[in-house]
Amino acid sequence: MSTDLSIQTVIEPFIIKSIEPIHMTNRRDREDFLQQAHYNLFQIRARNVLIDLLTDSGTGAMSSEQWAAVMRGDESYAGSESFERLEATVRELFGFKHVIPTHQGRAAERIMFSVMCKQGDVVPNNTHFDTTRANIEIQEAEAVDLVIPEGENPQTIHPFKGNMDVEKLKELIEKTGSEKIPLCMITVTNNSVGGQPVSMENLKAVRAVLDQYSIPLYLDAARFAENAYFIKLREPGYEHKTVQEIVREMMDIADGCTVSAKKDGLVNIGGLLCTNDDALAQKEKDLLILTEGFPTYGGLAGRDLEAMSVGLQEVLDEDYLKYRLAETQYLGERLVKIGFQIIQPPGGHAIYIDAATTLPHIPPSQYPGQTLAVEFYRAGGIRTCEIGSVMFGKPAENSPTEIPSQLELVRLALPRRTYTQSHIDYVIEIARDVFNRKDKLTGFKIIEQSPHLRHFTAKFAPC
Ligand code: F0G
Repeated sequence: MSTDLSIQTVIEPFIIKSIEPIHMTNRRDREDFLQQAHYNLFQIRARNVLIDLLTDSGTGAMSSEQWAAVMRGDESYAGSESFERLEATVRELFGFKHVIPTHQGRAAERIMFSVMCKQGDVVPNNTHFDTTRANIEIQEAEAVDLVIPEGENPQTIHPFKGNMDVEKLKELIEKTGSEKIPLCMITVTNNSVGGQPVSMENLKAVRAVLDQYSIPLYLDAARFAENAYFIKLREPGYEHKTVQEIVREMMDIADGCTVSAKKDGLVNIGGLLCTNDDALAQKEKDLLILTEGFPTYGGLAGRDLEAMSVGLQEVLDEDYLKYRLAETQYLGERLVKIGFQIIQPPGGHAIYIDAATTLPHIPPSQYPGQTLAVEFYRAGGIRTCEIGSVMFGKPAENSPTEIPSQLELVRLALPRRTYTQSHIDYVIEIARDVFNRKDKLTGFKIIEQSPHLRHFTAKFAPC
């Protein structure tokens, strides 16, 4: 890591070896694309997007070492060497006994909850990610979010806003009975409250409570390295530890984890399910064979396993992590300077703009988040994601109006190692233009929608 403290600019710690051209569009084109897509950004063709901040999942760039590893892929159905290499990497980094590859995070979740949960069970988490919650609910079990109160307030500053409320956890266990809680999960970083980290102290405190009741702890470790670097930066006693040591300490507190490798695994596809429990691992592998594939490939090609193995090691590079968090912070601070309210402080992988405070003249029933997201696309070809009443609004009984989401957010998620500072500066310029015109923006209504996950396919029309 650079020790020259007089240098302020955090540069991308890589050079560009292979490029993918961006297809340029102008405002008029984009107006047509919006109309054709019925103002739903999921329906816009990717080639018509200039900067794609829809998600940080599977959208990052692989390194030359990962591409080299792809060529070593052993595509044997059983006993592949690529699996052996991945297993060795994960055992060394995370320390778990059983390493089960899956095609992505939600496949690991589905298998784990199918095996561990039954009807009437309760699973606590700091905040469940949507797929985690859905995979619990499909078992007819209940997913309970127990984030600390600071995590629910966008403007409150707290170094570890993703933490679980330990007192609420105790109350939940006492009320529910430990026999109905097959496991507790902690999501690192906590995506749903803004990519906010969880402290080591909190992980230990949660573990101490669970130990009293013999409840296992699993991490949803999609962004394990970003979380570990926040611990290094913010938690007393960790400033001199390596990220690798911190990751291992986090994992040692848990009994296993699920991983979407599409985030900190630095790959475009892949996931992991890890556990120290022999009996559980056997059941999980049996189910894996049924739906994902043989346990030495789990729904992936051998070359995907190789890329994941290298990615999991590369993500621990502290020059990379310093740049990663600096990029997110850079975007967040400049949006605040323009006048936007964002979830504070900036998280690891994304900035979340508060659309309700940006567009106070647009009520939730006219979708302020969708309005802002559409305007970012119209003005600059930037694709973001509404996380508000389009995604979470619910029909109200006996009333034509919906129950709105608690927050109206627009997420700008940063793909890993993909965009340079000038791309981010362009996003900031467009954001300024949108902000200056915000009072003139008008909302949307939904004209067609499906009963489940409507945000992917809903059709909108301007109000
Ligand atoms: N857990 C967390 C915390 C996630 O953020 C995601 C995915 C998953 C699990 C599921 O993993 O996509 O590999 O099946 N988050 C993406 C996002 C989709 O845009 O935040 P997956």
